[in-house]
Amino acid sequence: MQNFNYHNPTRYVYGPGEHRNIGPLLKPYAQGRILLHYGSGSVIRSGLLQTVKDSLSEHGISYEELGGVKPNPSVELVRKGIELCRREKVQLVLAVGGGSVIDSAKGIAVGAPNSGDVWELYSRKGSIPENEPIPVATVLTLPAAGSENSPNTVLSNEETGRKLGFKHMGLRPVLSIVDPTLFLTLPRAQMAYGACDMMCHIFERYFTNTTQTALTDALAEATMRTIMQQSTLLAADLQNIDAWGQLALSGTVAHNDLLGLGREQSWACHAMEHELSAVYDVPHGGGLAVIIPAYMEAVWPYNPGIFTQWACNVMGVPPHRDTEAVVREGIRRLRAWYHQLGLPQTMRELGVPADADFNAMATAACKVYDRDAATPTLAGVHPLTAEEAAAIYKATI
Ligand code: NZQ
Ligand code: ZN
Repeated sequence: MQNFNYHNPTRYVYGPGEHRNIGPLLKPYAQGRILLHYGSGSVIRSGLLQTVKDSLSEHGISYEELGGVKPNPSVELVRKGIELCRREKVQLVLAVGGGSVIDSAKGIAVGAPNSGDVWELYSRKGSIPENEPIPVATVLTLPAAGSENSPNTVLSNEETGRKLGFKHMGLRPVLSIVDPTLFLTLPRAQMAYGACDMMCHIFERYFTNTTQTALTDALAEATMRTIMQQSTLLAADLQNIDAWGQLALSGTVAHNDLLGLGREQSWACHAMEHELSAVYDVPHGGGLAVIIPAYMEAVWPYNPGIFTQWACNVMGVPPHRDTEAVVREGIRRLRAWYHQLGLPQTMRELGVPADADFNAMATAACKVYDRDAATPTLAGVHPLTAEEAAAIYKATI
């Protein structure tokens, strides 16, 4: 197990009806004017935005508002939010929405108190802003990305065609409200994308070469089993509030780094998917569903032990001395779960053309975490070269 330093200060409030308490719950953190940030209309149609505004006003919290965040959120809107926050001296950003809205809110929160273009922080690896971000709070409407409790944000830049992440511990929200009644309006496809994303957040931590991680292995396996069980229940009945609640908690735990404690991490599938969604604007969870099985097929021989453990403990494959058969059956069962959820399994189903420039995407993905190396690679059980990453993309056409 590796050294670690874990600090997770998010006040996490769960339960049906809790979104109505946003005013009193936020009051201790709202020292001045706040920015109310939301997406392209779902929170208006559901009435949630009005409920939030009413609760803020009742508790004397004054706000500016900025809607219009799109999936694969753009740095352009973040720049507008930054200007607004500086002009109105905003002290906190409240995101009401899914991962895209929360990530956009985090971009505004770190950009507002810092001079220079915010994209610089995303495009320069390891960049440290001069000033702390202003606080972020969230009312989650889509359990998927885990941004409600992560220190990460991912933005797209349409001018450069890149989608890049930025991480800062000050971006873990101070407050997140997770109310499963807000998920009842989600279509089945979003539930499926979300479940796939959550699983991958665990895969990126679990499929590495660190040993002596028995506790995080067991927690990760329990969380993966729960995601599969609860999403399967939801595929049959999208109005199952209890299943939404259990899925949402699993999604938060999947990405708040509890399951990464003491471990080396990979993020290879995420780097490869972000290149796809930057260029083809595909849903993050859909892109992952296409890439993950091909990735597993390519890398499992480099650490058969962890893949066998996963196949047996998570996918329910009976132990057998034929390791390859066990791992392949695990991957087959993963594909079957994706199929049951209606997830895409090929580039074609995802809407990515067969003649896409997979070599360029692979080269860019390898440089995300390893820009300065002579031969940049993607970490994991095996350091993937750009050629190997391109072969994985191409195996999914
Ligand atoms: O914009 P609105 O109208 O709100 O519609 C959204 C959007 O079209 C809709 N939606 C959200 N809540 C709804 C709803 N529709 C009906 N009822 C509701 N209750 O769902 C659509 C998708 O929303 P989005 O926020 O884009 O989805 P998700 O939460 O999956 O977030 C995906 C983004 O998160 C990033 C991804 O790359 C992607 O850009 N990620 C962020 C991470 C992080 N910050 O830690 C980690 C992840 O790995 C991921 O990369
Ligand atoms: Zn993800």
